[in-house]
Amino acid sequence: MEKMGLNKIREEFLSFFESKEHFRRQSFSLVPEKDKSLLLINAGMAPLKPYFAGIETPPSKRMTTCQKCIRTGDIDNVGYTDRHGTFFEMMGNFSFGDYFKKEAISWAWEFVTERLHMPVDKLWATVYENDDEAYNLWKDMIGLPEERIVRLGKDDNFWEIGTGPCGPCSEIYFDRGEAHGCGSPDCKPGCECDRYVEFWNLVFTQFDKDEDGNYSDLPHPNIDTGLGLERMACVMQDTSSIFDVDTVKYIREGVENVSGVNYCDGKADTDVSIRIITDHLRSMTFMIGDGILPGNEGRDYVLRRLIRRAAMHGRKLGISGPFLSELCDRVIDTSGGAYPELEKRRIMIKRVVNAEEQKFASTIDQGMNIIDEYIADMVVAGSKVLEGAKAFKLHDTYGFPIDLTKEILGDKGYTVDEEGFRAEMELQKQRSRTEQEMEGAGWKNDDKSIEFSGETEFVGYESLNSASVIKSIVKDEDFAETAEEGDKCAIVLDKTPFYAESGGQVADSGYIYSDNGGVARVDDVKKSGKVFIHHVEIIKGSLNTGDKIDAMVTAPDRNMTAAGHTATHMLHRALQEVLGDHVKQSGSYVDRNGLRFDFSHYQAMTPEEINKVEEIVNDKIRHFIPVTTKVMNIEEARKEGAMALFDDKYGDTVRVVSIGNFSRELCGGTHVANSGNIGAFKIVSESGVASGVRRIEAITGQGILRSYNKELDTVNSVAAALKANKDLLTEKAAALIEENKSLKKELEELKKAEMSKGLDSLLDDAKEINGVRLVAKEFSDCTINDLRELSDSIKADNKNVAMVFAAVSGGKVTFMVSLTDDLVEKGLHAGKMIKEIAAAAGGGGGGKADMAQAGAKDPSKIPDAFAKAEELI
Ligand code: ALA
Repeated sequence: MEKMGLNKIREEFLSFFESKEHFRRQSFSLVPEKDKSLLLINAGMAPLKPYFAGIETPPSKRMTTCQKCIRTGDIDNVGYTDRHGTFFEMMGNFSFGDYFKKEAISWAWEFVTERLHMPVDKLWATVYENDDEAYNLWKDMIGLPEERIVRLGKDDNFWEIGTGPCGPCSEIYFDRGEAHGCGSPDCKPGCECDRYVEFWNLVFTQFDKDEDGNYSDLPHPNIDTGLGLERMACVMQDTSSIFDVDTVKYIREGVENVSGVNYCDGKADTDVSIRIITDHLRSMTFMIGDGILPGNEGRDYVLRRLIRRAAMHGRKLGISGPFLSELCDRVIDTSGGAYPELEKRRIMIKRVVNAEEQKFASTIDQGMNIIDEYIADMVVAGSKVLEGAKAFKLHDTYGFPIDLTKEILGDKGYTVDEEGFRAEMELQKQRSRTEQEMEGAGWKNDDKSIEFSGETEFVGYESLNSASVIKSIVKDEDFAETAEEGDKCAIVLDKTPFYAESGGQVADSGYIYSDNGGVARVDDVKKSGKVFIHHVEIIKGSLNTGDKIDAMVTAPDRNMTAAGHTATHMLHRALQEVLGDHVKQSGSYVDRNGLRFDFSHYQAMTPEEINKVEEIVNDKIRHFIPVTTKVMNIEEARKEGAMALFDDKYGDTVRVVSIGNFSRELCGGTHVANSGNIGAFKIVSESGVASGVRRIEAITGQGILRSYNKELDTVNSVAAALKANKDLLTEKAAALIEENKSLKKELEELKKAEMSKGLDSLLDDAKEINGVRLVAKEFSDCTINDLRELSDSIKADNKNVAMVFAAVSGGKVTFMVSLTDDLVEKGLHAGKMIKEIAAAAGGGGGGKADMAQAGAKDPSKIPDAFAKAEELI
């Protein structure tokens, strides 16, 4: 059997089934497109479910793929065994109501024996216990000896994963020989030992399993086969470990190089870390290649865990600093041919990994110290289980995913109270929910305690006012007939032009005028089901249930908000153009003053990127592109390429807002009729709000004018204060700074002159002791440098002087002792003297014979220190 590389096996497989008239398709993304039940694609058939179920028509009734898959269910085993990995590739051939068992079995046989040249006598097959049809096909059509066909039960030979298409299956095994076996006379496929490797699963998909566990026949029987590529490569390369497969080994060797730790065929403890990093590198590279970014939920969180876990194991191997992003190159080098998206996104993949590693590195040491402290606490308390709250703190504050904490503690023989951890997590969720609710407090009670039924017709897309009728009034948490001047209440109309807050756009404001002279100011509008609730204050007369009214939206506010909303869509597109299509909106807010847009991106934008984005949007504004809206069904919208933000919230019919061909988004908001109406667009800030999420704040048209006027006011008042022409402000400021500098210098010189004048008087105050002139003096507002200069100038012209200076600043004292040379010759020593002098004021220090310095804490003891000086002399 030829030793075949992994990439070659893949190509052999796909081209073989192409020759059997299968449509060969690129791997689907790891991100399930429609399947909400799945976080990540975990089998070749997963993205094909709608074809099996007959819900969608496949491009061809025969298909073949090599699908990227991720399974994290067994993540705890990764590293500890030869075969576990989170990432793998699954090859498969599929029939959607076309061929069935006969062809599936005969082609599988042809492929392994004629393309891969596997020795026939090493091959075994299993079938589902009562599947005689499959049994006989193996026996009669293939001619496999009966002793190598094994019937197995539901656990082994009935394939299903959750709900959906499933059925009996037949598996092909390779016999690696007695040396790998357990020696039992019963050893055959199905045995737990390593001798028989199952490598191909042929599923005869004929049932559909529903949520209650019932099986019904599918509209047509199908074939779904799955062949783990790494497993296949193990067989073809005669190895038992996926980490020895050519392409995987290449990545593993990268880890060995960077860490300087050699791999020992799974025998050393360090091998676990090497394998984990190798496997996780593959997963993270492919995940980011499919547009997933590290985050705190769902698949984003899976990615974060993988990166952090790999980083952690890097530390275990003694690697300091980020290292993963460089190694991603190896994954891309080996897999980029079959998966061009990796090559295309090479730079971005590496940046994302690097950014996440950096982020983790900055807290990892702190986190590890905390874990050590926790362990110390547990030792004292005699406990082996870390409290949930502590594990939660590690998660919340230091970004340690729970399984990482478990792993680190597990190595040392401790466990984590996972239930307690989950309880903390739930508490935090509740806290943030309550916080959100608090934000809207005030009006909330009205909405909550009252059930509104029916529907309000929204006419605000076409018009800013409407002749309506008051359907109900809610005052003091109850329905009321009338509301009087001064009342704050909620009003429901039969139809309204007022937009209710949603999709990040604030509600309209305006007025309600009743035919009998009552006026209400609309402060806010909320939606409860399909009912619009206007929160108003009656500012004149009264309003009654049943009144005919005119509802009028304040046009300038609405127009500014609409401009902001349309600009938001344009910004979204421009960001994708400049930064890449991984940019996804994660939140937005628009009101009449401007807009805020949160999006996924892994690093701060550069000033050039910001300028480019701003310029694209302004360019589209200058092109006066018509903005159109169309209501259509969701499938149609998808086909037209509309960007959907929160898929699951949309119903069957959706509203698509298009700005020419530039942008197309599902959106219920109000927009300007033409991009030109926005006037202009200006980004005022770009910042980070959470890891992997950036925020842009921007203003449009009037907002820019307002901001300009404000800045102009500032400039004018600065100019007035500086008494300068505002065109020459920069020069004026520079001149003032220059002037300030030279004034300071002058002042310093004056101070020095002043000081030297003081010298004489200083010496006049000297006290003669034993023929030595002692000058002991306290200074405030002086640096030690000033004092040194002072003593130097005294020493220059005098003899026989001992100076003891104390400089007081910030509640502390610095002492200096300086002696003229003749005194030093006589045997006095400044360094020795200062020790005792400073000690008298609670301090210490030292120095040379002619000059010494010391610090002390207690300024009130300065007289004692001076007395000490006298005594010493
Ligand atoms: N869907 C089958 C499997 O994953 C082929 O094993």
